[in-house]
Amino acid sequence: MTEKHYGGASSFGSKSKNITSSSSASHKIKEKKSKEETKDSSKSTDYQKYMQAGKIASEAVEYARSIIKPGMKLLEIAEKIEAKILDLGAKPAFPVNLSINEIAAHSTPAFNDQTLASGLLKVDIGVHIDGYIADNALSLDLENSEENKSLIKAAESALNSALNIVKVGVKLRELGQAIENTIKKSGFQPIVNLSGHSIEIYDLHAGISIPNYDNSQEKTLESGTYAIEPFATTGSGSVRNGRPSGIYVLESPGAVRDNFARDVLQYIVEEYNTLPFCSRWIYKKFGSRGLLALKRIEEAKIIHHYHQLIEVSGKKVAQAEHTIILTEKEKIITTI
Ligand code: CO
Repeated sequence: MTEKHYGGASSFGSKSKNITSSSSASHKIKEKKSKEETKDSSKSTDYQKYMQAGKIASEAVEYARSIIKPGMKLLEIAEKIEAKILDLGAKPAFPVNLSINEIAAHSTPAFNDQTLASGLLKVDIGVHIDGYIADNALSLDLENSEENKSLIKAAESALNSALNIVKVGVKLRELGQAIENTIKKSGFQPIVNLSGHSIEIYDLHAGISIPNYDNSQEKTLESGTYAIEPFATTGSGSVRNGRPSGIYVLESPGAVRDNFARDVLQYIVEEYNTLPFCSRWIYKKFGSRGLLALKRIEEAKIIHHYHQLIEVSGKKVAQAEHTIILTEKEKIITTI
């Protein structure tokens, strides 16, 4: 799942980093390990959990590839992939994103969604085991279009060119440049205000952005976990906010007066922690009352509501994504 830039360095995910237990003792968010702790233990169990999450994420992608057919309901696709992740022993790190054509990202079906799979479909899948996240995506051409196929190939080649050069010490601009050059060579544009991201425990967007173009950033990568995700488009190469997506994330601590809304909030905190979730999941657990409660919680500014991200010129977008672990000595792609 990608990160959008608003001119500053802000990202939704990073805001939720400092959430601590608030007014109610039951709203306790699992504490994140300090950076030092994470580094020390990353060699053994942490590392294994990242690898395991990666394996399941890539299996979920292959599963998606095998079941998706043109005309299938997006709702059925999302539910099947999320069920598969649970079957494989992990949890979704965010709702399966199914974004068609000019919708670049942050789209997931509502509980009653009737939209059918068509055109150029992006399937972005996140998996976590105890907060250890793997994030990967595929793009599918569902209308047998040469242009779609070239666009998808450009995004995949761009990802490969970044994966080839990524290492501890690489400059962010070098990664962006590799992605930008590969996409432009194919005659398309990279989406410049979407980017890859660092990953930490229960933190999908942990603060470092991996650009999809040469943004002149001399900053270098340190060891850690990262998602690299180029987007290629036939359009002008940026996204704007579309309509609300039904995808949310805990943003800042707070209280709601309504008892039922409080129960829903407690469930969100316990079940999703600081990872994104969606109205469809809340409906499944609480029914339509749950959706009203969600509205109350949103009004209290406790959760952030993501917007769909739409290519500004209304043109098609393809995406490719893998998660990697970088250490001083090696780079491991966890999602293949
Ligand atoms: Co991502």
